[in-house]
Amino acid sequence: MSVRNIVKIGNATLRKKSKPVVDFGESLSTLLEDMKATMQEKGGVGIAAVQVGVLRRAIVIEVEEGEYLEIINPEIVKTRGKVTDSEGCLSIPDFYCDVERPKYVKIKAQDRNGDEFYFEAKDYIARCICHEIDHLNGVLFVDYTEEGQIYRDRFERLN
Ligand code: CO
Repeated sequence: MSVRNIVKIGNATLRKKSKPVVDFGESLSTLLEDMKATMQEKGGVGIAAVQVGVLRRAIVIEVEEGEYLEIINPEIVKTRGKVTDSEGCLSIPDFYCDVERPKYVKIKAQDRNGDEFYFEAKDYIARCICHEIDHLNGVLFVDYTEEGQIYRDRFERLN
């Protein structure tokens, strides 16, 4: 496992839409292990492949301490409720703001072998899943609030 560089706000790569994973081979396993190592090193709870510069639809989330969920090619199939809570991002250092997210989410995804599974989550993990899926579509949490947009524009208007 090796720690990779995190792509930061202001880098146009973060705004690109990631492509589906089609090759479930060794390179995907290496990518997932590196994402996990990078997240551990930087102290995050979730990471999308785009954050290490790889435009593929792959996510790793620490669902419990030391327990990681790998999510490939996710689709949200159901959401319920709304909850507002503070959010941050490894790609946006030292900024946090409140974001409204579904209280409950159900996704359909694939694992690293390409096998399909469903996963349900609520509250904090549901928030993480929505945040990471946004990354796959070039969306950042700072896009949702005025406070976030003001912060974002300091970086993105320069480019
Ligand atoms: Co993020």
